[in-house]
Amino acid sequence: MDRYVVIGNPIAHSQSPFIHQAFAEQTGQVLSYERLLLPLDNFAGGLADFVQQGGFGCNVTVPFKTDALAVADVLSERAMLAEAVNTLKVQEDGRLFADNTDGAGLVMDLKRLGVPLAGQRILLLGAGGAARGVMGPLLAEQPAALIVTNRTHARAEELAKRFAGLGPVSHQPLEGLHGAFDLIINSTSASLQGERLSLPASLCHSNTRVYDMMYGKEDTPFMCWAAEQGVTHRYDGLGMLVGQAAESFYLWRGVRPEMEPVMQALRARLE
Ligand code: ATR
Repeated sequence: MDRYVVIGNPIAHSQSPFIHQAFAEQTGQVLSYERLLLPLDNFAGGLADFVQQGGFGCNVTVPFKTDALAVADVLSERAMLAEAVNTLKVQEDGRLFADNTDGAGLVMDLKRLGVPLAGQRILLLGAGGAARGVMGPLLAEQPAALIVTNRTHARAEELAKRFAGLGPVSHQPLEGLHGAFDLIINSTSASLQGERLSLPASLCHSNTRVYDMMYGKEDTPFMCWAAEQGVTHRYDGLGMLVGQAAESFYLWRGVRPEMEPVMQALRARLE
Protein backbone atom coordinates (compact mmCIF):
# COMPACT_ATOMS: atom_id res chain seq x y z
CA MET A 1 0.00 0.00 0.00
CA ASP A 2 1.19 3.57 -0.68
CA ARG A 3 2.60 4.80 2.62
CA TYR A 4 2.38 8.31 4.04
CA VAL A 5 3.25 9.63 7.49
CA VAL A 6 3.16 12.81 9.53
CA ILE A 7 6.50 13.48 11.19
CA GLY A 8 6.90 15.53 14.35
CA ASN A 9 8.04 15.53 17.96
CA PRO A 10 5.74 15.24 19.81
CA ILE A 11 3.26 13.68 17.36
CA ALA A 12 0.82 11.58 19.42
CA HIS A 13 -1.94 14.21 19.26
CA SER A 14 -1.77 14.86 15.53
CA GLN A 15 -5.16 14.71 13.80
CA SER A 16 -3.55 14.26 10.38
CA PRO A 17 -3.97 10.44 10.21
CA PHE A 18 -7.70 10.86 10.88
CA ILE A 19 -8.01 13.58 8.24
CA HIS A 20 -6.06 11.76 5.52
CA GLN A 21 -7.76 8.43 6.14
CA ALA A 22 -11.09 10.22 5.81
CA PHE A 23 -9.92 11.85 2.55
CA ALA A 24 -8.76 8.44 1.24
CA GLU A 25 -12.12 6.81 2.01
CA GLN A 26 -14.02 9.70 0.47
CA THR A 27 -12.03 9.63 -2.77
CA GLY A 28 -11.48 5.86 -3.04
CA GLN A 29 -7.70 6.16 -2.79
CA VAL A 30 -5.84 3.19 -1.31
CA LEU A 31 -3.13 4.36 1.05
CA SER A 32 -1.94 4.20 4.64
CA TYR A 33 -1.18 7.29 6.74
CA GLU A 34 0.46 7.05 10.16
CA ARG A 35 2.29 9.08 12.77
CA LEU A 36 6.08 8.98 12.85
CA LEU A 37 7.90 10.26 15.91
CA LEU A 38 11.50 11.18 15.14
CA PRO A 39 14.23 12.19 17.58
CA LEU A 40 14.91 15.93 17.70
CA ASP A 41 18.45 15.45 16.38
CA ASN A 42 17.76 13.01 13.55
CA PHE A 43 15.04 14.22 11.18
CA ALA A 44 17.17 13.60 8.08
CA GLY A 45 18.13 10.05 9.10
CA GLY A 46 14.58 9.08 10.05
CA LEU A 47 13.19 10.52 6.84
CA ALA A 48 15.82 8.71 4.74
CA ASP A 49 14.81 5.40 6.40
CA PHE A 50 11.14 6.07 5.62
CA VAL A 51 11.93 6.82 1.96
CA GLN A 52 14.25 3.78 1.74
CA GLN A 53 11.38 1.60 2.97
CA GLY A 54 9.22 2.79 0.09
CA GLY A 55 7.47 5.81 1.65
CA PHE A 56 5.56 7.95 -0.86
CA GLY A 57 5.34 11.21 1.04
CA CYS A 58 4.89 12.91 4.39
CA ASN A 59 3.64 15.88 6.27
CA VAL A 60 6.09 17.59 8.56
CA THR A 61 5.15 19.46 11.69
CA VAL A 62 6.79 21.11 14.73
CA PRO A 63 9.76 21.27 15.16
CA PHE A 64 10.96 19.90 11.80
CA LYS A 65 9.60 22.34 9.21
CA THR A 66 13.00 23.96 8.72
CA ASP A 67 14.83 20.60 8.68
CA ALA A 68 12.47 19.52 5.91
CA LEU A 69 13.46 22.59 3.90
CA ALA A 70 17.11 21.57 4.20
CA VAL A 71 16.64 18.00 2.89
CA ALA A 72 14.53 18.97 -0.15
CA ASP A 73 15.84 18.46 -3.68
CA VAL A 74 13.12 20.57 -5.33
CA LEU A 75 11.34 23.44 -3.55
CA SER A 76 7.99 24.97 -4.47
CA GLU A 77 7.85 28.76 -4.62
CA ARG A 78 5.55 28.94 -1.62
CA ALA A 79 7.92 26.77 0.47
CA MET A 80 10.77 29.08 -0.51
CA LEU A 81 8.76 32.13 0.55
CA ALA A 82 7.64 30.53 3.80
CA GLU A 83 11.16 29.23 4.51
CA ALA A 84 9.41 26.15 5.88
CA VAL A 85 8.10 22.87 4.53
CA ASN A 86 5.06 20.94 5.72
CA THR A 87 4.72 18.49 2.79
CA LEU A 88 7.26 16.21 1.10
CA LYS A 89 6.64 14.04 -1.92
CA VAL A 90 8.96 11.40 -3.31
CA GLN A 91 9.00 12.08 -7.06
CA GLU A 92 9.17 9.34 -9.69
CA ASP A 93 12.83 10.17 -10.26
CA GLY A 94 13.46 9.62 -6.53
CA ARG A 95 14.03 13.29 -5.76
CA LEU A 96 12.26 14.91 -2.81
CA PHE A 97 9.77 17.64 -3.73
CA ALA A 98 9.00 20.03 -0.87
CA ASP A 99 5.98 22.28 -0.50
CA ASN A 100 4.23 24.41 2.09
CA THR A 101 0.45 24.09 2.03
CA ASP A 102 -0.30 26.03 5.25
CA GLY A 103 -1.04 29.35 3.57
CA ALA A 104 -3.12 27.70 0.85
CA GLY A 105 -5.01 25.88 3.61
CA LEU A 106 -5.82 29.17 5.33
CA VAL A 107 -6.96 30.85 2.11
CA MET A 108 -9.04 27.78 1.18
CA ASP A 109 -10.77 27.93 4.55
CA LEU A 110 -11.38 31.68 4.38
CA LYS A 111 -13.00 31.17 0.97
CA ARG A 112 -15.07 28.26 2.28
CA LEU A 113 -16.30 30.60 5.02
CA GLY A 114 -17.14 33.29 2.50
CA VAL A 115 -14.60 35.76 3.91
CA PRO A 116 -13.67 38.31 1.23
CA LEU A 117 -9.95 38.98 0.77
CA ALA A 118 -9.53 41.08 -2.38
CA GLY A 119 -9.53 44.78 -1.59
CA GLN A 120 -9.75 44.14 2.15
CA ARG A 121 -7.67 45.58 5.00
CA ILE A 122 -6.11 42.65 6.81
CA LEU A 123 -4.28 42.70 10.14
CA LEU A 124 -1.94 39.79 10.87
CA LEU A 125 -1.07 39.30 14.53
CA GLY A 126 2.31 37.59 15.03
CA ALA A 127 5.49 37.38 12.99
CA GLY A 128 6.75 33.85 13.62
CA GLY A 129 6.82 30.83 11.35
CA ALA A 130 3.04 30.58 11.17
CA ALA A 131 2.76 34.19 9.93
CA ARG A 132 5.55 33.75 7.39
CA GLY A 133 3.81 30.68 6.00
CA VAL A 134 0.59 32.51 5.14
CA MET A 135 1.75 35.92 3.92
CA GLY A 136 2.49 34.91 0.32
CA PRO A 137 -0.88 33.19 -0.25
CA LEU A 138 -2.75 36.08 1.47
CA LEU A 139 -1.02 38.67 -0.71
CA ALA A 140 -1.84 36.64 -3.81
CA GLU A 141 -5.52 37.38 -3.05
CA GLN A 142 -4.82 41.10 -3.57
CA PRO A 143 -5.92 42.67 -0.30
CA ALA A 144 -5.91 46.49 -0.07
CA ALA A 145 -3.44 46.24 2.82
CA LEU A 146 -1.75 43.57 4.89
CA ILE A 147 -0.45 44.95 8.16
CA VAL A 148 1.78 42.84 10.38
CA THR A 149 2.11 43.46 14.09
CA ASN A 150 4.02 41.55 16.72
CA ARG A 151 5.07 41.60 20.39
CA THR A 152 8.67 41.84 19.19
CA HIS A 153 8.29 44.62 16.66
CA ALA A 154 11.60 43.96 14.86
CA ARG A 155 10.24 40.61 13.63
CA ALA A 156 7.15 42.29 12.14
CA GLU A 157 9.37 44.83 10.42
CA GLU A 158 11.55 42.06 9.02
CA LEU A 159 8.56 40.11 7.68
CA ALA A 160 7.01 43.19 6.08
CA LYS A 161 10.31 43.91 4.38
CA ARG A 162 10.67 40.33 3.17
CA PHE A 163 7.25 40.33 1.47
CA ALA A 164 7.20 43.95 0.31
CA GLY A 165 7.70 42.97 -3.33
CA LEU A 166 4.55 40.84 -3.33
CA GLY A 167 1.96 43.40 -2.35
CA PRO A 168 0.85 46.21 -0.01
CA VAL A 169 2.51 45.00 3.20
CA SER A 170 3.33 47.24 6.14
CA HIS A 171 3.91 46.92 9.87
CA GLN A 172 2.69 48.59 13.03
CA PRO A 173 3.90 48.26 16.62
CA LEU A 174 1.56 46.23 18.83
CA GLU A 175 1.34 49.11 21.29
CA GLY A 176 -0.14 51.95 19.30
CA LEU A 177 -1.98 49.78 16.79
CA HIS A 178 -4.45 51.97 14.93
CA GLY A 179 -7.05 51.81 12.20
CA ALA A 180 -9.95 49.44 11.74
CA PHE A 181 -9.66 46.17 9.81
CA ASP A 182 -11.97 43.99 7.72
CA LEU A 183 -10.18 40.83 8.78
CA ILE A 184 -7.91 40.16 11.75
CA ILE A 185 -5.91 36.93 11.71
CA ASN A 186 -4.17 35.64 14.82
CA SER A 187 -1.04 33.62 14.06
CA THR A 188 0.55 34.01 17.51
CA SER A 189 0.91 31.11 19.87
CA ALA A 190 -0.46 33.24 22.75
CA SER A 191 -3.68 31.19 22.81
CA LEU A 192 -1.65 28.03 23.36
CA GLN A 193 -0.43 29.45 26.64
CA GLY A 194 -3.98 30.56 27.40
CA GLU A 195 -2.76 34.15 27.14
CA ARG A 196 -4.67 37.08 25.79
CA LEU A 197 -3.23 39.71 23.51
CA SER A 198 -3.89 43.24 24.62
CA LEU A 199 -5.67 44.84 21.66
CA PRO A 200 -7.63 48.07 21.29
CA ALA A 201 -11.38 47.83 20.57
CA SER A 202 -10.93 50.33 17.73
CA LEU A 203 -9.51 47.57 15.49
CA CYS A 204 -13.00 46.27 14.83
CA HIS A 205 -15.79 47.87 12.80
CA SER A 206 -19.36 46.61 12.46
CA ASN A 207 -18.44 43.97 9.85
CA THR A 208 -14.96 42.89 10.96
CA ARG A 209 -14.22 39.16 10.78
CA VAL A 210 -11.63 37.41 12.92
CA TYR A 211 -9.76 34.16 12.35
CA ASP A 212 -7.57 32.38 14.90
CA MET A 213 -5.14 29.86 13.40
CA MET A 214 -5.40 27.98 16.71
CA TYR A 215 -8.37 25.79 17.49
CA GLY A 216 -9.74 23.85 20.41
CA LYS A 217 -12.82 22.47 22.06
CA GLU A 218 -13.75 25.93 23.24
CA ASP A 219 -13.39 29.39 21.76
CA THR A 220 -9.79 30.62 21.91
CA PRO A 221 -8.93 33.69 24.05
CA PHE A 222 -8.60 35.73 20.83
CA MET A 223 -12.10 34.72 19.71
CA CYS A 224 -13.43 35.61 23.17
CA TRP A 225 -11.83 39.05 22.85
CA ALA A 226 -13.51 39.50 19.46
CA ALA A 227 -16.88 38.44 20.88
CA GLU A 228 -16.53 41.14 23.53
CA GLN A 229 -15.98 43.70 20.75
CA GLY A 230 -19.27 42.63 19.17
CA VAL A 231 -17.64 40.70 16.28
CA THR A 232 -20.12 38.11 15.04
CA HIS A 233 -17.96 36.41 12.39
CA ARG A 234 -15.37 34.50 14.45
CA TYR A 235 -13.55 31.43 13.16
CA ASP A 236 -10.95 29.07 14.58
CA GLY A 237 -8.18 27.26 12.69
CA LEU A 238 -9.71 23.80 12.38
CA GLY A 239 -10.59 24.51 8.76
CA MET A 240 -7.03 25.63 8.05
CA LEU A 241 -5.80 22.30 9.41
CA VAL A 242 -8.16 20.42 7.09
CA GLY A 243 -7.39 22.81 4.21
CA GLN A 244 -3.63 22.34 4.38
CA ALA A 245 -4.20 18.59 4.53
CA ALA A 246 -6.48 18.73 1.47
CA GLU A 247 -3.79 20.61 -0.45
CA SER A 248 -1.12 18.02 0.54
CA PHE A 249 -3.49 15.21 -0.45
CA TYR A 250 -3.99 16.85 -3.84
CA LEU A 251 -0.24 17.16 -4.34
CA TRP A 252 0.27 13.46 -3.59
CA ARG A 253 -2.81 11.93 -5.21
CA GLY A 254 -4.00 14.46 -7.80
CA VAL A 255 -7.52 14.40 -6.28
CA ARG A 256 -9.21 17.19 -4.33
CA PRO A 257 -11.14 15.88 -1.34
CA GLU A 258 -14.17 17.66 0.08
CA MET A 259 -13.42 19.49 3.32
CA GLU A 260 -16.89 19.84 4.82
CA PRO A 261 -17.64 16.23 5.93
CA VAL A 262 -14.15 15.87 7.38
CA MET A 263 -14.51 19.18 9.24
CA GLN A 264 -17.72 17.97 10.83
CA ALA A 265 -16.23 14.63 11.87
CA LEU A 266 -13.15 16.33 13.28
CA ARG A 267 -15.19 18.88 15.21
CA ALA A 268 -17.18 16.04 16.78
CA ARG A 269 -13.92 14.35 17.83
CA LEU A 270 -12.88 17.49 19.70
CA GLU A 271 -16.08 17.53 21.72
P1 ATR B 1 5.10 29.77 15.09
O1 ATR B 1 5.94 28.95 14.16
O2 ATR B 1 3.94 29.03 15.69
O3 ATR B 1 4.69 31.07 14.48
P2 ATR B 1 7.09 31.16 16.56
O4 ATR B 1 7.93 31.33 15.33
O5 ATR B 1 7.75 30.81 17.86
O6 ATR B 1 6.03 30.03 16.34
O7 ATR B 1 6.21 32.48 16.74
C1 ATR B 1 5.29 32.62 17.75
C2 ATR B 1 4.56 33.94 17.56
O8 ATR B 1 3.62 34.14 18.63
C3 ATR B 1 5.48 35.13 17.60
O9 ATR B 1 4.93 36.14 16.79
C4 ATR B 1 5.44 35.52 19.08
O10 ATR B 1 5.81 36.84 19.36
P3 ATR B 1 7.37 37.20 19.56
O11 ATR B 1 7.96 37.26 18.20
O12 ATR B 1 7.35 38.50 20.25
O13 ATR B 1 7.93 36.09 20.40
C5 ATR B 1 3.97 35.33 19.34
N1 ATR B 1 3.63 35.12 20.76
C6 ATR B 1 3.82 34.01 21.50
N2 ATR B 1 3.35 34.18 22.74
C7 ATR B 1 2.82 35.43 22.81
C8 ATR B 1 2.19 36.21 23.82
N3 ATR B 1 1.96 35.71 25.03
N4 ATR B 1 1.79 37.47 23.51
C9 ATR B 1 2.01 37.97 22.26
N5 ATR B 1 2.61 37.30 21.27
C10 ATR B 1 3.02 36.05 21.53
